[in-house]
Amino acid sequence: MKNKILNIKNLSKSYDAFKVTDKITIDLHFDEIHALIGPNGAGKSTLIKQIVGSVKHDIGSIILDQEDITDLTDVERAKIGISRTFQVSSIIPQFSAIDNIVLSLLDKSNKTFQLFKSIRNNKELYSNAKKILKEIELLEKSEISASDLSHGDRRKLEVGLALAMDPKVFLFDEPMAGLDENGTNMMINLFKKIKSNSPILLIEHDMDAVFALADRVSVINYGKIVATGTVNEIRQNELVRDVYLGYEI
Ligand SMILES: Nc1ncnc2c1ncn2[C@@H]1O[C@H](COP(=O)(O)OP(=O)(O)OP(=O)(O)O)[C@@H](O)[C@H]1O
Ligand SMILES: [Mg+2]
Repeated sequence: MKNKILNIKNLSKSYDAFKVTDKITIDLHFDEIHALIGPNGAGKSTLIKQIVGSVKHDIGSIILDQEDITDLTDVERAKIGISRTFQVSSIIPQFSAIDNIVLSLLDKSNKTFQLFKSIRNNKELYSNAKKILKEIELLEKSEISASDLSHGDRRKLEVGLALAMDPKVFLFDEPMAGLDENGTNMMINLFKKIKSNSPILLIEHDMDAVFALADRVSVINYGKIVATGTVNEIRQNELVRDVYLGYEI
């Protein structure tokens, strides 16, 4: 248990008779990126939503840093260190990029309801927000409204919001989707840097990114984990080749 920051056991969710996730057991070690791959509709996003707490699972348990969080709400889970799921909707479109980051920093420190004027004068807060914008290569666009950012830049901003929360674990659902090559490379380097502080459970369809980043890979198919191993082990696994036929592993 000691080397595991996140420990998921037998997590299951059915919609009527359809088992979307079926007794999923998966863990996340300190200092690692664990990629979750699988075909469309396999249950990846649902699993992340169950960990975040936005979808209630039927059975199973979730332990974060030796604490049982199975019965906590999504808000309680976010407070103790589960990064929010990757959804463009958590961005406030009419706010600038930097104000979105500032809000996330305030959320982390429970100061969301400070007067706006005093927030604006908080140099330390804005300086921390700028550091995050620099990490995600959005510093030049800090004053642009989120609604005017390109799709790729909004994905970067989402990662920035997660960074601002300084969570115990990151759960990223297709963070590279819509990024160009530069954006993808930036994200790969960023993830390598941040994983020692907060390990990452990563859903990603970009296999080059997965193979460049993952310490371990788990493959999910029809709601079940069918293999877990290192990148090399997964590449050589025949069952995985079957599941991924067409993906050219
Ligand atoms: N609220 C829901 N009600 C009924 N079925 C659902 C619900 N949410 C998801 N599903 C179904 O569960 C299955 C798994 O969905 P999920 O979004 O977890 O897949 P995924 O692995 O993330 O796929 P993708 O790679 O396309 O993002 C799909 O068949 C989906 O239609
Ligand atoms: Mg999905």
